[in-house]
Amino acid sequence: MTVATTTVPLLDLKAQHATMREDIADAIAEVVDSQWFIMGPNVSALEEEIAEYIGVKHAIGCGSGSDALLLALMAIGVGHGDEVICPSYTFFATAGAIYRLGAKPVFVDLDPTTYNICTESTREKAATCTNLKAIIPVHLYGQSCDLDGVLELAKELNIPVIEDAAQAIGTKDTQGNMVGTRGLMGCFSFFPSKNLGGYGDGGIVTTNDDELADLLRILRVHGSKPKYYHKYSGVNSRLDAIQAAVLRVKLPYLESWHEARAKNAAIYDELFHQAGAITSANALTGEGFQLRTPAAAKLPARHIYNQYCVRVPAKDRDALREQLKANDIGTEVYYPVPLHMQECFSDLGCKEGDLPWTEAAALETIALPIYPELTEEQLRHVATTVIDFMNSRS
Ligand SMILES: Cc1ncc(COP(=O)(O)O)c(C=O)c1O
Repeated sequence: MTVATTTVPLLDLKAQHATMREDIADAIAEVVDSQWFIMGPNVSALEEEIAEYIGVKHAIGCGSGSDALLLALMAIGVGHGDEVICPSYTFFATAGAIYRLGAKPVFVDLDPTTYNICTESTREKAATCTNLKAIIPVHLYGQSCDLDGVLELAKELNIPVIEDAAQAIGTKDTQGNMVGTRGLMGCFSFFPSKNLGGYGDGGIVTTNDDELADLLRILRVHGSKPKYYHKYSGVNSRLDAIQAAVLRVKLPYLESWHEARAKNAAIYDELFHQAGAITSANALTGEGFQLRTPAAAKLPARHIYNQYCVRVPAKDRDALREQLKANDIGTEVYYPVPLHMQECFSDLGCKEGDLPWTEAAALETIALPIYPELTEEQLRHVATTVIDFMNSRS
């Protein structure tokens, strides 16, 4: 007799592809038939559609979310010896783009409720800087940072904000504005695991500034305008036409995917709260059920749940992962090593203990499957496995 099991991968892109397989195949075939692979009508159309979706004047396609950050920093002239504030608890690319230009990432601690940049920590760090050129807050996991606070601080400091919205297309801040509209530029990724993912790498920079938009368009083609005349030294970072065609098929579904993710998050929240969990607005104290759910965004804000990360005591985190794996449930840790403790940044002089909230989060968080096509049975299997394990540890 075989026992029926419920397998739950962290992400199942095949499930989504199955719902639009023919349309995607047609869109790719059209590009192939046209033989217009670089820039062209699909890229321009996607740029317009994304600009309209986000509610911003310009959207400039590029090779990846990492390149979007690089281009944005190049566009404001960040270079050798400059300082740029960013979180330490983020994907490498946020700081990598700064470092690659010869500038110094200045890492700040997080707000444990949202895992996003802490405005107070940012203010304190900014006061120690002598050559601060910009702030890059990240809207981690698909939830807006304290954009009001960061923008106000940047205004006081007279420096721009570049929003790293790689995980946050469609995310709304506390005023209900789409992220990537209020900073000087917003940087988005179309990496396949994002809520709007391509079939390869891709990214886009948003801005309401006409001059910056022109400059970004020049910088992504080696800095040339007209062709073969280089006022600037840029990079080769264009959004691939096949990616643009795929993304155009997927964009009309994006809102429904956000809704499905939010619905899945609500199911987890309810099951975990019934078991005694509370939200990440509360520290892990050792009292009661030791699990913290993501703090849900209050309307008009919107969390798009690119990731659903819970927090458990550090001593239990890896064992919980193992238990989930044993039950055919995929998980990930975003991110196990904070950037200020990465070997490649050792020359920056940061050390363990510098950013306590960040270091705790790296040991305590775990991402659970949240993709739109999950069934209620799968969600319950995940939640029950987590709850049973955590109860066994108390
Ligand atoms: C916060 C953040 N910034 C930047 C990036 C870089 O995007 P890409 O992978 O498209 O280069 C990512 C991608 O995972 C990200 O999560």
